[in-house]
Amino acid sequence: MKHFLQFKDLNREEFEYLFSRASWIKKAHKQQQQYKPLENRTFAMIFDKNSTRTRLSFEAGMQQLGGAAIYLANRDTQFGRGEPVEDAARVISSMVDLVMIRTHEHKIIECFADYSSVPVINGLTDANHPCQIMSDIFTYVENRGSITGKTIAWIGDANNMCSTWLQAAKLFDFTVNVSSPPGYDIESVGAEKYDCKYYKKFACPYDAVKNADLVTTDVWTSMGFEKEIEARKKDFAGFCVNTEMMAGAKNDALFMHCLPAHRGEEVSADVIDGPQSVVWQEAENRLHTQKALMEYLLLGKKE
Ligand code: CP
Ligand code: NVA
Repeated sequence: MKHFLQFKDLNREEFEYLFSRASWIKKAHKQQQQYKPLENRTFAMIFDKNSTRTRLSFEAGMQQLGGAAIYLANRDTQFGRGEPVEDAARVISSMVDLVMIRTHEHKIIECFADYSSVPVINGLTDANHPCQIMSDIFTYVENRGSITGKTIAWIGDANNMCSTWLQAAKLFDFTVNVSSPPGYDIESVGAEKYDCKYYKKFACPYDAVKNADLVTTDVWTSMGFEKEIEARKKDFAGFCVNTEMMAGAKNDALFMHCLPAHRGEEVSADVIDGPQSVVWQEAENRLHTQKALMEYLLLGKKE
């Protein structure tokens, strides 16, 4: 039994397999072909933070594969009222075939997985967002081919998205140029966890984007950090990905953002809505890549 709690829980060969499955599943979906390998399977989705894309892509994806998805908001569950994670994991996993969790501290999902009798997927924690990076790399490959050897510029908060890019860089052998304001950089999230061979730090975001193949950013204030919104707006001034900044990257560089975005803060409207942006394809690919992931975790590789 496999869990997907961090990006590095799967190896490169498994991701290559998932990408080829996701391409097939996407094509079949576009042609309105029914493909229901997960009939009679049940999927519990536990949310302790808001979501649009993650909930919809998993719920629609499981339905399209023939199974049923159950949405559990923590505000309604006993888990949300403090029932021990170990107890919740034993009970929930005894009734369903697969579980997804979006929560705060990463150790919650690790504890849940330790006591779960079925595979557990990370739908975002404070530390990781592996499903999003799976979709982002798939989107890069769809547009430009292999990501190996490329340069990705991460501009802004060294948050859950940034740390997952750093894990992916080691697996796929690419470089992440990270530029964050002081206090929000990879030191503050434990730079020692990442292999320094795969990232470079830049004080100035304009230096980080030089010759990048992909420029990407995220909100300045992630879920759970709302009290810091006003302080962060000041601290992140100068870290908006705008057309001037994009001009420093390669001419054919792509722009990605996991969404939701704040136009005028971390990205200007003309970049996110401009020709280099692939954010809508990136969001849609959550559906196709996660369908491939659910199929793989439940049925293994299809020959
Ligand atoms: N990108 C992402 O995970 O979006 P949601 O928060 O809407 O799920
Ligand atoms: N870093 C953001 C990603 C949202 C999808 C957050 O954690 O809120």
